[in-house]
Order: sequence, then structure tokens, then C-alpha cells
Amino acid sequence: MKIISVVGARPNFMKIAPFIKAIDTYNALNGNIIEHTLVHTDQHYDDCISKAFFEQLDIPEADINLGVGSGTHAEQVGNTMIEFEKVLKDKKPDWVVVVGDVNAILACSVTAKKENIKCCHIEAGLRSGDMTMPEEINRLVTDRISDLLLTPDPLSSENLRKEGVPEGKIRFTGNIMIDTLERNRNKAEALDINEIIRQNSVNHFELNNLNSPVAGFAVMTLHRPSNVDRKETLEPIIRFLIDDVCSEIPLIWTIHPRTRKMLETFGLLNEVMSHKNLFLLEPLGYLEMLKLNMNARIIFTDSGGLQEECTILGTPCLTLRWNTERPITLLEHGGASVLVGNNIRLIRKEYLSSLNKPRKPFRPELWDGHAAERCLNAILEYRKLT
Ligand code: UD1
Repeated sequence: MKIISVVGARPNFMKIAPFIKAIDTYNALNGNIIEHTLVHTDQHYDDCISKAFFEQLDIPEADINLGVGSGTHAEQVGNTMIEFEKVLKDKKPDWVVVVGDVNAILACSVTAKKENIKCCHIEAGLRSGDMTMPEEINRLVTDRISDLLLTPDPLSSENLRKEGVPEGKIRFTGNIMIDTLERNRNKAEALDINEIIRQNSVNHFELNNLNSPVAGFAVMTLHRPSNVDRKETLEPIIRFLIDDVCSEIPLIWTIHPRTRKMLETFGLLNEVMSHKNLFLLEPLGYLEMLKLNMNARIIFTDSGGLQEECTILGTPCLTLRWNTERPITLLEHGGASVLVGNNIRLIRKEYLSSLNKPRKPFRPELWDGHAAERCLNAILEYRKLT
């Protein structure tokens, strides 16, 4: 059996790593039955948000790099389709496996289906209901045309049923990203927080006592266009961070290239860089981010994956979005995340009430570190629906 799996951007890497390991284990036991090819579309090409993950997560170098790079959505999707079609014509795989919701999955699932190749979507069925998010469009299209939809939780399976997806296409396999978290917990635990800051700092290089849980610190990631692309939205968030958070506890902000560019454009970068209690870091590797999450008193984020990791670790998580495709991570479902959008009054209110909450780890069903084996089995057991 020939499988091509696809990665494009940072959140794909921690999801594909356990899938590749599951293939290796299967091949070791069954005599190399699966011929696997890893394709990187190269949407994320900077070392700090691509290469570092391959090294830390022990992902083999991509067999094929499409070299698509940055661009508008149409450019990214269009160029990926043109390049991926050539790969499919050459390799003629039985399956194309896509993970998550970045532009690569839209481009590669459509191209695969046009070539009459079966497509499997890992992390299927997530829905934010927000059609202004490019990821929602990617999820909807990919799920509509894929042959096998592997869901991380029962709510996602239910979303697919409501959309009329035949039962035989849906398999609840659990959250594959948690496989990576469980595999790397001990390695992350062993890291030193001050060392992480020293090695990745953009503005301050020394900070003592952050390893002490008593002192405490907040962590932030922010990269969604809806939060960072307009000054009217980004500036009040910065004001809140400086006036309310950094006046009390250190804030460690790992900054995405897009956000850094916007801070500079809006003339806010200097103020952020010069605040003594605000520690601006380059985008971190997987282990470093996991270590910060394990020790943070609170996390501010607009990332999807962090909401899930906070849920497993029990870190109070303020999600700077008005909706989430991952409702299972919300407080009302037992998770750690609260939606606060970009309304500063709401952010402040939830910040004050979350700050001193104890950690409350929660493990949704099948977030058990073994999702990848179930995903591979689902592909191996697939029988074409007629
Ligand atoms: C993409 C995903 C998003 C995911 C995020 C994680 C889509 C639609 N979006 O958003 O779902 O949460 O990745 O990071 O697929 N840039 C660099 N170096 C790089 C890559 C990008 O500097 O290696 C800069 C470029 O200026 C680029 C901008 O970041 O234009 C945005 O990158 P892009 O890949 O378009 O989207 P992300 O915001 O990273």
C-alpha cells in the first residue's frame, strides 16, 4: 500500500509525527507493507517554525518539498495544487493523508480526489461555524470530499453526521496531537525556563526565578489575522497586557512572524520590546512551548492546539476568539479554555477570575496517546463504501 502524507505549516508537524511512527512500527512487524512518502508544501519555511519541529519530534526529512512558501491564499492553494498534482501522477499512491486545517489540506485533498485517489482527513469534523476563518473553509471542503474522516472527539463525529456524512466514513480515533504531548512530556519537563528565555529572547536575556512556581508568569501566543491585522484590535490588547498583566507578573510572548510584522507596521514594537516585564521570544520549538505551558499560571492564545494542550495540562487558558472549533476544550465541557474574543472588559474579567485558579487537568475520551495507531488501522481496515 502506498501512502502520501502531507504537512505544510507548524500545527501539522506534531500531528504527523506519531502517524509516521505508527507506520514505522507497523512496517517493522509486518515487513514493510506500507510505502510512505512525506510531502512538505513549505507554507512554513522559516527554521524556527519548521525545521526545529522536525528535529525535536524526530520527523524524517520530507521526501518531497513543494517549495510553495508564503503568498495570498489563492497563491498558496493554487501553487500547492499545481506541484502536488505532479507528485501524485508520479507516485500514484493509494491514499493521501492530510491533518488539521491549514491551506495544505484543502489544496492536497482536492488534488487527490481529482486524481481519483482516496483521501483520509485526520482531525476531521471540527467546526467553528465561522466562515471568515480560512481554516473553516479548509475543514468543510476537505471533509466533504474525503473518503475517511478520523475525528478527535464525539462532538466532531456528531458534526459530520449532522452534515449527512455516511456513518461508514466516520471513525472516532481520538486526538493525535496528544500522542506527541505524552511522548514528549518528560523531555519538556527536564528543560530550564530561564535557559529557554536566554536562548530565544528578542529583547531581555536574563530572568531569574521563573522556575519557581510561586513567582508565576503568563504566556501568550497571538497570530490570527482577526486579532493582529488591524491596529484598532491589536493596540487595546497590547494596552491591556502592559497595564494589567505585566504590572503584576512577567508575560512571556512567543511572537509569530506575522504578528511581529504588524506590531512594527503599527508603531507598537518598540514599546513592547522595551517593557521590562514583557519577554518577547522567537517562535519556540515544541518542547520549549510545552515546558512553558506546564508552568504558566495562565495562557492567552488564539491558537487551536494550545487550547487542547492546556486542557490536558490543566493550565487556565483565555482564548482570544469568539468561537472555537474545539468546544471540548471549553470549561463547560470540563476543559481549561474560556472564550474572551478581543473585548478588553471580558478579557480583564476572565483574567482576574482565572489567575488564581488551580490547575485542573482533564483528559477527554481517547486523548490517550494512542490515536495514531487507531488512525493507521482505520486506513488499513477501510472498505470502499458503495
Ligand atoms: C498558518 C495557518 C493557521 C495556523 C498557523 C500556525 C492557514 C490558512 N493558516 O497561519 O491555521 O494556525 O499557520 O502558525 O493555513 N511567515 C514567515 N515565515 C514562514 C511562514 C510565514 O515569516 O515560515 C510570515 C509571512 O509573512 C507570511 C505570514 O507569516 O505571509 C503568514 O504566514 P501563513 O503561512 O500565510 O499563515 P499563518 O498566519 O502562519
